Amino acid sequence: AQLTAPTVDLTGKRILVTAGGTRERLDPVRFLTNDSSGKMGYAVAAAAQRAGATVTLITAPTALTVPRGVTVVPIESTQELADAVTSRFPQADALIMAAAVADFQPLTAATQKIKKTADNDELTLTLKKTPDILKTVAPMKQADQVVVGFAAETQELLKNGRQKLRHKHLDMLAANDVSRADIGFNGDNNQVTFLFADGTSQQTPVASKRVIGERLIEQVAKLFAKK
Ligand code: CTP
Ligand code: CA
Repeated sequence: AQLTAPTVDLTGKRILVTAGGTRERLDPVRFLTNDSSGKMGYAVAAAAQRAGATVTLITAPTALTVPRGVTVVPIESTQELADAVTSRFPQADALIMAAAVADFQPLTAATQKIKKTADNDELTLTLKKTPDILKTVAPMKQADQVVVGFAAETQELLKNGRQKLRHKHLDMLAANDVSRADIGFNGDNNQVTFLFADGTSQQTPVASKRVIGERLIEQVAKLFAKK
């Protein structure tokens, strides 16, 4: 049974959502990743689906169940996520990048398991920057497409958020203060500030990720209406 009725109607809209923390391979049994649980992205995908949209969820590995009716595309690395997003973006009406994307990946992934050797007390990893997916997508963006980013910040939430909104050419950015223990990455609750390209902003109350997902989808519907 549905606990809350969809508050907006996105019937006919194709919405691409990304979720989870990407994994960057070090060797066949090890990878670098981050604290993302994927809960926020899954909540956004579920809210979009309840609103009637056709939803594709591109997801890094998580412990979560894919919402019913949502098409799932599993990825692991940032490069795989970048390929999955860029190939599907032209057919999408909106892209919502809730994935926690690794900023760096090992320069090379070892083909065999890295061994500890008797003479090495230290191991140095060389990392290289991953592609910035939102920046890659920006030049492909059509006037009627909506692009939403997330930003997890530990300081200067609004200043850093505004900068990302501009640099990544977003219609909206959901900024999230991850220095607070009660909200964010792993919990079930969240609080975000929606920043818009027109300079306005709106803060949600602390609420379940389900509710935050619904509020976000309401904002996406408003952005469609303005296009
Ligand atoms: N993002 C992306 N490609 C990357 C890194 C991030 O598309 N390589 C997206 C995220 O999915 C998110 C937004 O960009 O929607 C902001 O991510 P964030 O990590 O906050 O910003 P960065 O640009 O990586 O800056 P930094 O981590 O240095 O604050
Ligand atoms: Ca980053």
